[in-house]
Amino acid sequence: MTRLLVTGASGFLGGEVAERAVRAGRTVAGTCHTTSPAREVFLRGDAVAVRLDVRDAEAVARVVDDVRPDAVVHCAYVQDGPAAEATIVEGSRHVAAAARAVGARLVHLSSDVVFAGDLGRPLREDDPPAPVFPYGAAKARAEEEVAAADPGAVLVRTSLVFGGPGAERSKHEALAIAVARGEREMAFFTDEVRCPVQVGDLAAAVLELAARPGVAGPLHVAGTEAVDRLTFARLACEAAGVDASGLRGAPSPPGRPRDCALDVSRALALLETPLRGVSEVLRRTS
Ligand SMILES: NC(=O)c1ccc[n+]([C@@H]2O[C@H](COP(=O)([O-])OP(=O)(O)OC[C@H]3O[C@@H](n4cnc5c(N)ncnc54)[C@H](OP(=O)(O)O)[C@@H]3O)[C@@H](O)[C@H]2O)c1
Repeated sequence: MTRLLVTGASGFLGGEVAERAVRAGRTVAGTCHTTSPAREVFLRGDAVAVRLDVRDAEAVARVVDDVRPDAVVHCAYVQDGPAAEATIVEGSRHVAAAARAVGARLVHLSSDVVFAGDLGRPLREDDPPAPVFPYGAAKARAEEEVAAADPGAVLVRTSLVFGGPGAERSKHEALAIAVARGEREMAFFTDEVRCPVQVGDLAAAVLELAARPGVAGPLHVAGTEAVDRLTFARLACEAAGVDASGLRGAPSPPGRPRDCALDVSRALALLETPLRGVSEVLRRTS
């Protein structure tokens, strides 16, 4: 894999994927949408920035045709709002069709919230998706669209992405820190379980998969430790040296996916990249 296209490279995961790929000597093009395409604004390293709206099928095809990538990593999305459904579902279909048309390997980013989280055990790749809210439903539909357009694509289901020491902070860490400092007011759910994954670990795994065309369909790629949201928020504060004693927990309201812990044993067997548990990364040892 020498030429890589990363959609959503102005975002948290896409930026990390693009940067690592450049450092590994790949030729990288990364897309932004509302962010300025001035390279220094969002792409670190020697990568080419392109503005793209993935809802525009012709524009997606044009960019893929121009870049001629060996592999595409599709990170672009929005979670909420009027653009979410079209960006997630149609955008993913457009990217998959364009990747297939040029014979590029596709790594599609999906989510643990394609599941309801009510099985009471870690979720495996062959468990049927059962989304309970609109974002999860859109991600589940995107998986179907991508698999139909490009059966060789790998569908990477992941969980809360965080940075930790030495990395940029994710929105999840920033929120926990803001609440602990009294800048925001909210409770963290004590019954909502996820397997947070460090952004560098996930980016490395994604790049490994981009170079492994034999792996297709859903693959669970997340941290090896399942924690509730309050525990995650406390760990994020601890790592940042912020007093977390003011954080409070509460049960989640109905209609949210609860225990979406992912069984990552297939990814661990397939990949060289370690998938560290959140405590291992965030817990302060001194
Ligand atoms: N973050 C998590 O905790 C998490 C958990 C599970 C799964 N995931 C999955 O991981 C992937 C990446 O997440 P992330 O948190 O890194 O995302 P992010 O930081 O929110 O970045 C989203 C990216 O998508 C771009 N984008 C938005 N609308 C677009 C459009 N219409 N056309 C083209 N690009 C568009 C944004 O561009 P601009 O900023 O330039 O507008 C940005 O580069 C997503 O597929 C997400 O579902 C993330």
